[in-house]
Amino acid sequence: MITLETAKATQFLPAGAVEALEGQVKTAQQALEDGSCPGNDYLGWLHLPSSITQEHLADLQACANTLRELCDTIVVAGIGGSYLGARAVIEALGNTFEWLANDGSNPVILFAGNNISEDYLAELQDYLKNRKFGIINISKSGTTTETALAFRLLRKQCEDQRGIETARKVIVAITDAKRGAARITADKEGYKSFIIPDNVGGRFSVLTPVGLLPIACAGFDITKLVQGAADMERASAPEVPFADNLVEQYAALRNALYQAGKKIEILANFQPKLHSMNEWWKQLYGESEGKNGKGIFPAAVDLTTDLHSMGQWIQDGERTIFETVISVAEARHTVLFPHDEENLDGLNFLEGRRVDSVNKMAELGTQLAHIDGGVPNVRIVIPRLDEHAIGQLIYFFERACGVSGLVLGVNPFDQPGVEDYKRNMFALLGKPGYEAQSEAIKARL
Ligand code: PA5
Repeated sequence: MITLETAKATQFLPAGAVEALEGQVKTAQQALEDGSCPGNDYLGWLHLPSSITQEHLADLQACANTLRELCDTIVVAGIGGSYLGARAVIEALGNTFEWLANDGSNPVILFAGNNISEDYLAELQDYLKNRKFGIINISKSGTTTETALAFRLLRKQCEDQRGIETARKVIVAITDAKRGAARITADKEGYKSFIIPDNVGGRFSVLTPVGLLPIACAGFDITKLVQGAADMERASAPEVPFADNLVEQYAALRNALYQAGKKIEILANFQPKLHSMNEWWKQLYGESEGKNGKGIFPAAVDLTTDLHSMGQWIQDGERTIFETVISVAEARHTVLFPHDEENLDGLNFLEGRRVDSVNKMAELGTQLAHIDGGVPNVRIVIPRLDEHAIGQLIYFFERACGVSGLVLGVNPFDQPGVEDYKRNMFALLGKPGYEAQSEAIKARL
């Protein structure tokens, strides 16, 4: 199981500051359980891991097998909660150079529909020429501009390249059960489709088909992933005592640090494979907590890489930050520090040591330096980058996010602020129905 180390953060707080939040944390946990909290129509994620059926997993796996058989490349079209989780898991579990050095045993998984860049789309279309590609179109609303644009382009290209009949077999929709453009198109064209449950918001949807289908397509074991999440669901239940409950400890600690003026949480990893996990976590916490003029700002760094860019700020900048490090106990491969006859860099003293042991000393040295610099340090240790551990990590962060947001006093399950840019964009583009906003916004330019 993953573990949580908090002593190097609590040392920055008055004694008992975390324990003082136990009552609020348990109340938040209970409110999640009995559905009495704000946003209670979006609690479908809470018992998702323990309620996913073998039949559902088998259906997803069968669809993934078909796509894997018929496609050398699969494009996952989606934005925000409709792609970040899948990407985070695929990159954490995969080979860093898979897409460059693909040996054909797995399809190349690409992501689109998460920006409006003409260059990105043109270059993607160019790459897909002559490739046997399929599309997983993921959009709960079915009207998200970024995703809808990519799907229009890719669907046409897929039909042109592979023929309408094959395209119908290699395009899969993951969307609302009844509503939206993606649902209508899927039903009309006869695409295989999966439902995003009404009661699961985008950023909590990685354990629905939104995440599970792309992850299965990439060749990873979704049963083990879900099992890991279910194990964490059990370990973080409200009846588990506060002192032993990782989720409650993390949620209480974050709130105690925030109350003590630590307004920014930096999620750090020492494994580049976790870069997209940072991105998923930023959305989860940013969209859940950043409202009503409140909320910890979720930032993230990849270390040691960013010690050579953000390291100075973390060590010495404004002391409003704390750091949460995801530490992976066991590397997947073994590489030894090599000998160099000239030893001009003076590093022969490391000769024969595993690179991961050097990385671990970098991690420890960084932790101590940052503590000396006044940065509280939380450490989440995961045994290795495998499906079971990643499943645990996902559920740990999801549940802690729900609890944390409720203790903060916000509705962690809505995102009203996300609509503002869309309204302006549609007004500027002159979308029918936006005439009044169009006039008003143009007057401001
Ligand atoms: O978390 C969320 O709800 C958002 O990030 C959505 O997932 C994102 O905006 C995409 O929405 P949709 O799935 O409707 O295209």
